[in-house]
Amino acid sequence: MNPIKILDDVYWVGGIDWNLRNFHGYLTQRGSTYNAYLIVDDAVTLIDTVKHYLTDEMLDRIAWIVDPSEIKYIVANHVEMDHSGALPRLMEICPDATIITSPQGEKGLRAHYRKDWNFKVVQSGEEVSIGARTLKFVLTPMVHWPDNMVCYSPSDKILFSNDAFGQHIATSERFDDQFYVDIIHEEAMKYYANIVLPYSQQVRKVLEDAATLDIEYIAPSHGIIWRSYVSWILEFYQRWAMNETDNKALIIYDTMWGSTEKIAYAIQKAFEIREIDTSMLLLKNNHMSDIMTEVLTARYICVGSPTLNKNMLPDVAAFLTYLKGLAPRNKVGLAFGSYGWGAQGVNDVDAVLRACDFDMIDKISTQYVPDAKALDEITKKVMEAL
Ligand code: FEO
Repeated sequence: MNPIKILDDVYWVGGIDWNLRNFHGYLTQRGSTYNAYLIVDDAVTLIDTVKHYLTDEMLDRIAWIVDPSEIKYIVANHVEMDHSGALPRLMEICPDATIITSPQGEKGLRAHYRKDWNFKVVQSGEEVSIGARTLKFVLTPMVHWPDNMVCYSPSDKILFSNDAFGQHIATSERFDDQFYVDIIHEEAMKYYANIVLPYSQQVRKVLEDAATLDIEYIAPSHGIIWRSYVSWILEFYQRWAMNETDNKALIIYDTMWGSTEKIAYAIQKAFEIREIDTSMLLLKNNHMSDIMTEVLTARYICVGSPTLNKNMLPDVAAFLTYLKGLAPRNKVGLAFGSYGWGAQGVNDVDAVLRACDFDMIDKISTQYVPDAKALDEITKKVMEAL
């Protein structure tokens, strides 16, 4: 297992999780990587580690460059186990190494591993010399956990950004100009929508801090390293963090006997006539983490369900729970659905979209099977609301 050289004395030594398909509910159809980075200076420094089952792979890559027992500093930018999972084995190999982490990082690592390792706790803006280089640390709480921080090497102009700017892609290519940029963009967007989105306010602060740094490389903890598209991904993060939307509608629904689907198409027709782009997303056929990628930049979020046992359909409820937790902002919502003898399904959908703080269009429901006249009226009603 080879290391990949980024710059003189700076290497990628992470692990590739080729077969990962589920990252706590997020469909990772392209796998992922856990990126660890080795800086060979007077004090050999490792930045982050890997998931526990890829520890040998990481150690193997490091051993091409230095004996892992020579590591003096381990920067733990984030406690979550996809980045700290190799620490117990590593600290057996280099027990005198010092772990540099944030105040919350120390608490979190102690609570996870119950070990009395050497910790050096840093505050935001603090610097640590490792020889020719001085590393600077900036705390970035809630991007993605309270403990998160990023590490900047001014002499290399590299920002080690941990979860920020990541993408779940397993590939042997390491740099943005070696891989398909459209795929990197799609996966970076999916990553933001499914992991980073609730913390957009904190991301705006990170972007402010990043603007003060001279950055030629962004080295995240998942996926591809940015070097040719640094300003491009910073601009996208700015846009996503500011909740900017496209003039696009998503019609997300499930249906029992086809009536809710008829309503979905009548709504779609209204957007089409108004020349607003649409996506029809049947929940049976689309994973909710993929739907969230589209939610990130869509202006209109229409969600439909028939009534089943005085409730919305379970897959619609699951999607709405996921949506509400990720807290998208600056959206217009519309609930719709058919029912037999009780409109609880559409009422419940409407209530969740309102709880998401969306601007709402009046809900649409029909009893049993809507005829052509009812569908025309639905189209007209939605057009009038746009
Ligand atoms: Fe990639 Fe929050 O861990």
